[in-house]
This record gives sequence, C-alpha cells and structure tokens, in this order.
Amino acid sequence: MKSLLYLCALFTLSLQEWDILPSLAPDQCVCKLSNTKAFPQDNLKTIQQNVSGCINEVSPKKSMELKSLLLGLEQRLPQLQQDMTELQLQDDGGLYGVLALHVIQNELTEITLLMEKLNATMEAHAQQARDTTQQIQTLRAELQQLQSFDTQQVIKRDQTNQRLKRDLDQCRNGAPPTAPPSVPPHALCPHGRLQNVTRPRMHTAGEYPGSYKYGAWGQDPKPEGGKESWYWFVPMAASNRYAHYVRLYSSLSSLVVGISVPGNVMIHPSNPTTNTVQGPNAVLYGGALYYNCYNMDAVCRFNLSTKTVATLQLPKGTRFNSKSNFCNLDECFPFTDLDLATDESGVWVIYTTNQDNGNLVVSRVEGGPDELVLGQTWHTSLYKQATSNTFMVCGVLYATRAVSKDLEEIFYSYDTATGKETFDVRIYLKKMFPNVYFLNYSPVDQMLHAYCDSNMVSYKMIFQ
Ligand SMILES: *[C@@H]1O[C@H](CO)[C@@H](O)[C@H](O)[C@H]1NC(C)=O
Ligand SMILES: *[C@@H]1O[C@H](CO)[C@@H](O)[C@H](O)[C@H]1NC(C)=O
Ligand SMILES: *[C@@H]1O[C@H](CO)[C@@H](O)[C@H](O)[C@H]1NC(C)=O
Ligand SMILES: *[C@@H]1O[C@H](CO)[C@@H](O)[C@H](O)[C@H]1NC(C)=O
Repeated sequence: MKSLLYLCALFTLSLQEWDILPSLAPDQCVCKLSNTKAFPQDNLKTIQQNVSGCINEVSPKKSMELKSLLLGLEQRLPQLQQDMTELQLQDDGGLYGVLALHVIQNELTEITLLMEKLNATMEAHAQQARDTTQQIQTLRAELQQLQSFDTQQVIKRDQTNQRLKRDLDQCRNGAPPTAPPSVPPHALCPHGRLQNVTRPRMHTAGEYPGSYKYGAWGQDPKPEGGKESWYWFVPMAASNRYAHYVRLYSSLSSLVVGISVPGNVMIHPSNPTTNTVQGPNAVLYGGALYYNCYNMDAVCRFNLSTKTVATLQLPKGTRFNSKSNFCNLDECFPFTDLDLATDESGVWVIYTTNQDNGNLVVSRVEGGPDELVLGQTWHTSLYKQATSNTFMVCGVLYATRAVSKDLEEIFYSYDTATGKETFDVRIYLKKMFPNVYFLNYSPVDQMLHAYCDSNMVSYKMIFQ
C-alpha cells in the first residue's frame, strides 16, 4: 500500500515539475531532443518483464479488473518502447516528428491512467495488495528513472502538462462508478450553458488499431445495474459502412487496452439485413442500441437483453442511403444521413428531409419496451451538408464544421426549449485526426466522445 502511495506521489511530483518548466516553442523542442541521450530501452524491457512476472504471480488471486489493468500495463510498455524506437529512427540528425511526440505523450498518459486505476483497484483489494508491494516497489525505482528521463527529455511541452493534469483529476474524480442520472425536466439543465471544451482527454486506438475507419463508441447514460462502468464499441466492420454487433468492455481502461469482456452481442448473424447497423452514428441508451436501420429511412432500436429490434419509420421525404451526409472540407461521410444522439433527457435523431430542403431536423425518439415513437420535432435553418457532425446537450442541438485538419468548430446551436438558433457558438475542438465520423455527448460524465479515423478520442465539456 505504502509503495503505491509513493508511486502516485511520484507521478504527482513529476506533474509539478512539468508545471514549472517554461513552455517551449516546437522548434526549441526539436533542438533539445536531437541532443538527447538514448531512451533507456533496456530499463523499459526489464520493467516489462517484471510486470509480466507480477502478473503471473498475482493473477490467480486477483480480481478480473486488477488483472486486466496489469495486462494493460504490460501491453502499453512494449508499445511505448516501439514508439520510442520509431521516434529515434525518424531522427535524421535534427527532426523528431511532432506527431510521433504526440503519440509518446499519449502512451505516457495512458500508462499514468493505468497506474491510477491500478492504485484505486489495489485500494479495494487491500489484503491482496500486500503480495505485490515488493514488485511494485522495485518497479517504482525504474519508473522513476523513466519518468525523469521523460521529464527532462521528451515531454517539455506545456500542452502535455495540462493534459496529464486533467487526466489525473479526471481519474481522481471519476474513479467511482457514476449513478444513473435522474432525467431532468426538459430545459432544466444541471450544468448551465456550454462554454468550452478541453483538449483531448483520452485517446486510444482501442483493440483493433487502424482496422475500422468508421465506428461509434461510448458509455450507456442509463445503464442496467452493475454495468455503470461499461463502455461499448460498434465498428463498421462490413464494407466500412455496416455493423452487426456491439462490443462491450467492462471499464474505460479495458477499452483503452483492448480487452473486451463480456465481448460481442450479435444483432444479426449475417450482413446485411434490415436490422444491420448502417453508418457510424449509433448510440447506446438504456441497454439498447439506436441506429439507422440498413437501407431504410428508419431508426432501429436493438435491445441487448432481449435481442429484439423495434423500428421507427421517419417522415416521408426523409433522406437516407447517403443522400444527405455530414461533410468536412473535401469529402462527405458515407451513410451519415441519420445521427442518433443522447443527452440528459434521452435519445434524439438528427436528420433532414426533402421538404426541409436539406436543413437539419431534430426529433425526440420515444416509446415503450415494444415500440418506438417519433416525439416532438423541430426544424432548423442549418443546411446539413454544411456541418461535419452534430450532438445534443440538455435539449440543445450543436453542429460542428471542419476548420482545418487539426481544428473542428462547434459553430451552431439550436435550443429546442426556446427555438433560439445561433451561428456564432465559436467553441473549438483540437483534433488528433482529421475526420470526426462520430460525435456524441455522454450526460453521465459530460464527455464528448468522438470516433476519428479508427481512433477514439474524448473531450470534457466545460459549462458556465
Ligand atoms: C492511491 O491510493 C491511496 C489509497 O491507498 C489514495 O489515498 C491516493 O489518493 C491514491 N493516489 C492517487 C494519485 O489517486
Ligand atoms: C526484475 O526481476 C528480476 C528477477 O525476476 C530481478 O532480478 C530484478 O531485480 C528486477 N528488476 C527490477 C527493476 O524490478
Ligand atoms: C477554451 O479552451 C481552450 C483549450 O483549453 C483554450 O485554449 C481557450 O482559451 C478556451 N476558450 C475560452 C473562450 O475559454
Ligand atoms: C429491453 O428489454 C427488457 C426486457 O423486456 C426491458 O425491461 C427493457 O426495458 C428493454 N429496454 C429497452 C430500451 O426497451
């Protein structure tokens, strides 16, 4: 236990050190880096082996989660090592790629996150923790070296300070499972007006790095009991356009390191049928997946417990099958006609129709256990193809557009409570990848989840 405290103190200490470091311009960073000594890869290897040893010794006695965290750590370390190797290969005597640096930062963030989670889990298993104290103690010394190396040599950018610090805060505040939110009455929002969005808080390539260009992921805002910490992922596994299963992860760290327990819930055994998921704008809510049914101007709801599908036919004239997609600067995203969204009050569908001349329409998706009903509908004056994605927060529709490949702007909002529409929201999202194929708000923790070019990225919403 004590050593764990030290371990965390170590990270905190490092963070403080980073805090007081002067921020460097990117070019200064380059100069510094090209003169550095080699990254201590041998040390990394030893730690890696010892983490493996640690797993073998403790796993029979430990809970699943502890095991998966340790496994995660074991997986992250070789990845960090590999990334460092690549970074050094790219070093042609002067230049380290900014992107590569970004990857390394991210690796370190994830390792920090895992350490934190490990700490939290260990706390819950105080008895078993004693067994591992010795191993962790030795690892601590090694990690300290690595940390100081990174502190001095690699991560000197103020940006990283902020991200790590926020991740740490998030981890501290966000560790206990959140209770299902009580549904506030419409327009009565607990957080105030959306003011800003943080830099990316979490980023992972997940279980299948680079495999699925399009996909959807997140956390069920109204989960069944015992599934509060679960995450879900729906990859567009067929032709980049369709999906026929939901993949579940028991925690965020499992999602990050790609250990899927309890695995897949099949919607339909073969592709494509009416019940197949079409396009990457699906959401999970109340134990059911809401999505655009294959080849239909309709919303499907797949109940993960009963494996039954309910269908909601949208109004005549609704555009579907890639007739009215989201678009960025130079391409439109296939099969994004219907965008499902969650907020504090439930599920929404954002789409467009011929009679609305391609402008966005937003409707509530309601209904009982056996049927789906189209609720109240609002008509906006925003042309759908001028937006790259949309999401709902507290009954307010927000739309984004691509400014560049690094920047997305939340530029538009429509308040369904007042009918007020604005085109000057001016909140910017720093992108790690150019295309935001999926964007959805999680009312559980006020995170904005994005799926971008095979990667999951999340941002924290800041309210006034
Ligand atoms: C690690 O766990 C201890 C309890 O054993 C707790 O007091 C401490 O705050 C945790 N550290 C971090 C950084 O979360
Ligand atoms: C790693 O484990 C080996 C034996 O398993 C031990 O000799 C070595 O001291 C350990 N090193 C560290 C840094 O933990
Ligand atoms: C919003 O957040 C970004 C990133 O944290 C920051 O750079 C920017 O100044 C903030 N904007 C406002 C208006 O607070
Ligand atoms: C799924 O089915 C179960 C069992 O009939 C039911 O209790 C639950 O409300 C259903 N979920 C949704 C979202 O309809």
